[in-house]
Amino acid sequence: MRILAVDDNAINEAAALLAAGDIVAFPTETVYGLGADATNAQAVAKIFAAKERPSFNPLITHAADASLLLDEAVFDSRAQELAAHFWPGPLTLLLPKAPNSKIANLTHADLPAIGVRVPHHPVATALLKAFGGLIAAPSANRSNHLSPTTPQHVAESLGSNVPLILAGGKSAVGLESTIVDLTGTQARIVRHGGISAEDIERLIGPCGRALPGEAPMAPGMLAKHYAPRIPMRLNALNAQDDEAFLMFGPVLGKPSGKVQLNLSEGGDVVEAAANLFDYLHKLENADVSRIAVMPIPAHGLGVAINDRLSRGAAPQTA
Ligand code: TXA
Ligand code: MG
Repeated sequence: MRILAVDDNAINEAAALLAAGDIVAFPTETVYGLGADATNAQAVAKIFAAKERPSFNPLITHAADASLLLDEAVFDSRAQELAAHFWPGPLTLLLPKAPNSKIANLTHADLPAIGVRVPHHPVATALLKAFGGLIAAPSANRSNHLSPTTPQHVAESLGSNVPLILAGGKSAVGLESTIVDLTGTQARIVRHGGISAEDIERLIGPCGRALPGEAPMAPGMLAKHYAPRIPMRLNALNAQDDEAFLMFGPVLGKPSGKVQLNLSEGGDVVEAAANLFDYLHKLENADVSRIAVMPIPAHGLGVAINDRLSRGAAPQTA
């Protein structure tokens, strides 16, 4: 892991890493982010691996300016107003994903909404421009650690899990972005942060709040979103004739089942995580009665994959 003082070379090196599908830590005005190409599921999977996240929490997609998000998310008048007023700045909007969006399903954990934000920090903006794309980034800390506001915090928390940290000083806001959910008719503030609720309500009127104890879209609340439309059968060693077979690792001979997809023939959990949501979408549309899923090893990202699968296989309660 290297901490690089920021100059043009450092920005270009970091942008090249992102373009190559790797991860980079970078400063924003709120906290340091751990970034990857938001359109590349395999790159995004590396974020979850580096943070040692036990589930696929949705990540915020960052852009150099709002115009780059118009093809990715559906902006209603409230969203347009908030974006015009507070971007660049510490505000994240949860908006419906645009039908032709390039953002990888893994970036937003396959939820209908995507989180988008234009950060206000010269290094973040320079990196976004040099990369020329959209950067998915959670806070650059190990899961359940404090959010980092200096490059040293990132280094202490992630260590060798991150190849490069762009050092851009101390984050001025020091608190994550405020998250406003605009997917329903009633706007809701689901995370308090760098912009006050009053400032937001002055612009778009009264907003709802997250329920007490409700983490923003905590994985446990999302059980119903995580499920494919057809049942899943986990830890299957074979598939029946009317089942799709979601495989993992090397398979000898002709695999069973009506259709098959292999999450990672080489048995790589990072590759499997990158393919998971896309393959489940394909198989639920494959005219089969069920998806049989091979066992996934419970190490590294395999923990998050199994979390996702067991939620998806649980009986629906809502
Ligand atoms: O200030 C910030 O927002 C920083 C900087 C790096 O931009 N990022 C950050 O990301 O705090 P993270 O992943 O640590 O927190 C983002 C929160 C998560 O709790 C996640 O559940 C929620 O935003 N979130 C993001 N996208 C979402 C989506 N599509 N639907 C629901 N919740 C979402
Ligand atoms: Mg965080």
